[in-house]
Amino acid sequence: MRVAVTGASGYVGRAVVAALVAEGHEVVAVSRHPRLGDPGHGLGLDVVSDDLRPAFSSADAVVHLVGIIREQPDAGVTFERLHVEATQRVLDAVRQSNVSRLVHMSALGTSARGGSAYFETKWRAEEAVRGAWPSATIVRPSLMFGGGADFFKTLAGLARNPVVPVPGDGRTPFDPVARADVARALALIVSDDGAQGGTFEIGGPERFTLNQLIDRVGQAAFGRRPPLPKFHMPLRALRPLVAFGERVPAFPLTRDQLDMLGIPNTTNDTRWHRWVPDPQRLDRDL
Ligand SMILES: NC(=O)c1ccc[n+]([C@@H]2O[C@H](COP(=O)([O-])OP(=O)(O)OC[C@H]3O[C@@H](n4cnc5c(N)ncnc54)[C@H](OP(=O)(O)O)[C@@H]3O)[C@@H](O)[C@H]2O)c1
Repeated sequence: MRVAVTGASGYVGRAVVAALVAEGHEVVAVSRHPRLGDPGHGLGLDVVSDDLRPAFSSADAVVHLVGIIREQPDAGVTFERLHVEATQRVLDAVRQSNVSRLVHMSALGTSARGGSAYFETKWRAEEAVRGAWPSATIVRPSLMFGGGADFFKTLAGLARNPVVPVPGDGRTPFDPVARADVARALALIVSDDGAQGGTFEIGGPERFTLNQLIDRVGQAAFGRRPPLPKFHMPLRALRPLVAFGERVPAFPLTRDQLDMLGIPNTTNDTRWHRWVPDPQRLDRDL
C-alpha cells in the first residue's frame, strides 16, 4: 500500500515510518521538514510538505499522527489548532482523495470527561473522525518509552536529585508502552480489514505508579537503588509556580501536564495483542 503519514518527523512518526517500510509499504511522509527524505536517510521516502491534498492524492491510506503535548500560544500553536482543526483538515483532504483507510492517533485517557485540555481536544478530534469517517481506526496509546522519550527524560531530570521532587502524591498509575510496539501495531492495522471502525487502547504489559516510574528511571539512568528518597509537592500548590514557569519553553511542565499527572492512565484492553502478541517491558532503553 502507499501510506501517507502526517507528523512523520516526530518521535512516534519516525518509528511508524520505519515500521511501515519494514512491512513493505510505500510511505509518503507529510512533514514541514523535508530533511526526512534527504539522501542517506535510507528509507527512500517521498517527503512532501504539509499541503495535504497532493500528499494524499496518490495514497491508499493515511496515518494521522500530528499532535502536541504542549501549547505555545504566542506562536499560535494550540491544542485546538493542532488536534481539532488539523484533524478536520485531514478529514477534508481525505474526502477529496481516493484514500480508503484512515488510522487516527489519539491518546489513552481521552474521553468526553476530559480533565485536561490535551485530553479534551483529543476527544473532539476523535469525534470528528468518527462523524466523518466511521471506518477509520482510532488508536489510543499510553505513555511511550524507547529512543529517548521526552517524558522519561523529564523523569530522569527529577531522578538525578538526591531527594526527588515529585508533583503530587506519585500514586497515579500508568501503563507505559514501547514506541516500537505501537509503531508495529499501526503498520499492521493499516492493512487489516478487521481493524476498521475500531478504537483500540494500547497499554504496555506492566503497570507503574509515578513513584515507581521514577524509581525505574533512577535505576536505569543512574544506577540508583530503589526506592529513591522523594518529597511530594501537592499539585494544587504547584500550579502558581508552573503557571509562571510554563511561559519558558525549557520549563519541564505545563499546568495541563500537571493536571494529567493526576489522571490514571491505564487500560485493560488487550485486543491490540493480535498485532503485537508480546509487548516489551520497560527496560534501559527509555
Ligand atoms: N509520545 C507519546 O508518549 C504519545 C502517547 C500517546 C499519544 N501520542 C500521540 O502521538 C502523536 C505523535 O506524538 P509525538 O510524541 O511523536 O510528538 P512529536 O514528536 O512532537 O511529533 C508531532 C508531530 O506533529 C507535527 N507538528 C507539531 N507541531 C506542529 C505544528 N505547529 N504544525 C504542524 N504540524 C506540527 C510535527 O510534524 P512535522 O514537524 O513533521 O511537520 C511532528 O512531527 C500525537 O498525536 C500524540 O498526541 C504520543
